[in-house]
Amino acid sequence: MMTQASPTGSTPRRIVIDTDPGQDDAVAILLALASPELKVEAITTVAGNVPVALTTKNACALLELAGRRDIPVFEGAARPLHRAPISAEHVHGETGMAGANLPPPKLRPQAIDAATHLIDLLRREPAGTITLVCLGPMTNLALALTHAPDIVSRIAQIVAMGGAQREGGNITPTAEFNFFVDPHAARIVMRSGVPITLLPLDVTHRAIATPARLKPIAAIGSRVTDMVVRMLGAEDRFEKLKYGWEGGALHDPLTIGFLLRPDLFSGRTCNVDVEVDAPLCLGQSIVDLWAVTDRVPNALWINDVQADAFYSLLTERLALLD
Ligand code: RIB
Ligand code: CA
Repeated sequence: MMTQASPTGSTPRRIVIDTDPGQDDAVAILLALASPELKVEAITTVAGNVPVALTTKNACALLELAGRRDIPVFEGAARPLHRAPISAEHVHGETGMAGANLPPPKLRPQAIDAATHLIDLLRREPAGTITLVCLGPMTNLALALTHAPDIVSRIAQIVAMGGAQREGGNITPTAEFNFFVDPHAARIVMRSGVPITLLPLDVTHRAIATPARLKPIAAIGSRVTDMVVRMLGAEDRFEKLKYGWEGGALHDPLTIGFLLRPDLFSGRTCNVDVEVDAPLCLGQSIVDLWAVTDRVPNALWINDVQADAFYSLLTERLALLD
């Protein structure tokens, strides 16, 4: 069971969500917006599930749906640091939000790019006050760390969805999608020295959106929850077809769940690195779970969750959005 220093009293934890919405990213963003323990300072977008123009449009549409046009969106990298872009329309649909049926947003992204904003924000705000939540390929953060190494000491924590060990890969036999799209960026972040909590497939595959877990969300009957259930309950969910499960995995919202209720999660501090050369296992997260190397532990690797309790939290919070 994990514990972590959560904001004392009523002081919300200030977060920036770096994301490639993405159906599961969308649920993570909504969960964060519905949770008073968190203050979403900005959303930065990246190419991943779909091209960055679409992930940016989806982020703006989600903020409008939630009535949060006050939160700025910064468009980020259109491609990985060194590799050709890869996307996941086969999972999230051509729009990246299959089933959401959101109207085209009026909200537009800010004029500066994501990496520049991350640098400006982290240099401007007191050190240790901004937590970065990474839900897609880590290109934006890698660019910021490369251009401004001084921000390393200013980031409170990185909480990221990425990697896999026990579960194997979901885009190749060995690699999870976010790490596979930009393995060089993932390695830069893992080697940065910033405190990192990783939520890999090893935990997200234990939080399946089954009909029983979606039923209480559907019963709320709001625009938000109707959209969530349309997206998560679709018969052709990727993992449902691939693994024969009762539903799809819910990856990204677990990062927000960890920030809200770390006690629902368990894992181990260890060294995690990323393969950037070997063709057969490019993007694989190399997890030294049992310290068999002399590589310094650099991440909290989360590999279990009390899934029903997480879905109860998700349901309770989504009900707060109308
Ligand atoms: O492998 C799952 C991850 O890849 C999730 O973040 C999903 O949104 C996709 O980006
Ligand atoms: Ca994502």
